[in-house]
Amino acid sequence: METLLELQGISKIYPGVTALNNVDFTLRSGEVHALLGVNGAGKSTLVKIICGAQPPDSGTIKLQHNLLQINNTADAMRNGIVVVYQERTLIPHFTIAENIMLGLEPGRGQLINRRKLNERADQLLKRLGVELDLNKEVIQLGAGQQQLVDIVRALRTEPKVMVLDEPTAALSQAETKHLFDLLRQFKKQGIGIIFVSHRLDEVFEISDSMTILRDGHVVSSGPISEYTPARVTQDIVGRSVAKLETTPTLNIGAVLLETQNLSSAEFQGVNLKINSGEVVGLAGMVGAGRTELLETLVGFRRATSGKILLEGKPTQITSPENAIRHGIVLVPDKRIEKGLLNRMNVLENLTVASLKRYSGRLGWLQQKKMQEAATKAMDRLRIMPPSLNTPVQSLSGGNKQKVVFGKWLASSDDVRGLIFMFDEPTEGVDVGARADMWVIIRNLAAQGAAVLITSSDLDELMAISDRLYVMRRGQIINEGLKQEFTHDSILQQMMGG
Ligand SMILES: Nc1ncnc2c1ncn2[C@@H]1O[C@H](COP(=O)(O)OP(=O)(O)OP(=O)(O)O)[C@@H](O)[C@H]1O
Ligand SMILES: [Mg+2]
Repeated sequence: METLLELQGISKIYPGVTALNNVDFTLRSGEVHALLGVNGAGKSTLVKIICGAQPPDSGTIKLQHNLLQINNTADAMRNGIVVVYQERTLIPHFTIAENIMLGLEPGRGQLINRRKLNERADQLLKRLGVELDLNKEVIQLGAGQQQLVDIVRALRTEPKVMVLDEPTAALSQAETKHLFDLLRQFKKQGIGIIFVSHRLDEVFEISDSMTILRDGHVVSSGPISEYTPARVTQDIVGRSVAKLETTPTLNIGAVLLETQNLSSAEFQGVNLKINSGEVVGLAGMVGAGRTELLETLVGFRRATSGKILLEGKPTQITSPENAIRHGIVLVPDKRIEKGLLNRMNVLENLTVASLKRYSGRLGWLQQKKMQEAATKAMDRLRIMPPSLNTPVQSLSGGNKQKVVFGKWLASSDDVRGLIFMFDEPTEGVDVGARADMWVIIRNLAAQGAAVLITSSDLDELMAISDRLYVMRRGQIINEGLKQEFTHDSILQQMMGG
């Protein structure tokens, strides 16, 4: 295969961090090249340099053997390099068509030719075999569909190089399959694809070669045939990662939370029980109503009928603050939007959930205690760089996720009787940190908390849960101990097969 893109000696230094250190990278036409590494290894930085969003401090970029001078994303696009970023870039109140054609609207001056705009967007969708309602506002779409719009937008020009930074993190299994079909189609056209992902099974399914970064330098690079999953993990993390052995919880305690016929626009007649001491998994496709259910249990949304009982007592949960007072916390999905104080640093984000606890007698915050708790959470999650003063805005995507996860750890030592809910807790988190999070979640249950967790990653759900509920189209359709399910049986139930 012909060499398409060639990077040589690329370095990038941010204040205090060497994000990339003398990186060489070669992409051939018609290949999917996986770019791997732990959270903070430098993947997104490399992506940003390739597509002109950030200048490198040194190094050269050649496209089809010609030296490229890329000063901004428009330069990159003109040269046929397109990118789908890790964080969504859509304009919420614009329609799908408007978002897809943004910046390339047909028409003269201020007047946009709406008919033509829709026509072009429609042609593009047809060519890609993607079904979307062009007149819908993007804000009405689920995470997976938004992702798809971002991908379609990247393809509106005829690209030579396509960079996808964690494209599947928010996709359901069916959507991922669709994406991979598209990628195979692009490969045949000779497009070179750089694929950033933390999901190793997908990497092995779709990639032809891979490059692994650690601390900003290349650890190894080569065709997929040279790698086993164990070697990849070893190269990524720099140590071997133990498989999570869940020992089923032995001391299951009282029912902490129960719902009776809980219903809303998004789910109907939900009956579930969660006991202290157990981890309960909630399986379901994207759009099955899992997130809506969890958000209702913490008072972020209202149920239209049915009851929530806490330790047997019917309780109205009126707001997330009210839920916290009842000992229920939710670590939300799309954490970067929902859970981070973007202008603040790691310390402030880690301790915001528990400011009350650190208030001294006169209302002064007990700085030292806060720092101790935050440092502990930072170490357990291996947040990189390990500094409490880092503004969260400058953290890598996965490290941002860890901060939101960590804020509840820093908030309490005694977790007995508390209810923790996690919506997609390891989305965008690297294999090493994911194993750390699993252990932390299991420990919460072992110490007497109740845990309810959702994940699109069925293997994760199977690994971590004692018991499972399966949800489809807003209804609980099955419940049982983990041993009563297999990966395939859950999948079938989720999809209604
Ligand atoms: N704008 C910035 N200012 C300061 N430091 C930054 C900035 N952007 C990234 N960094 C740092 O550069 C390093 C590499 O970050 P990068 O986003 O490339 O990681 P990544 O491999 O994409 O991680 P993830 O898997 O979490 O997305 C990290 O230590 C990060 O904190
Ligand atoms: Mg990244």
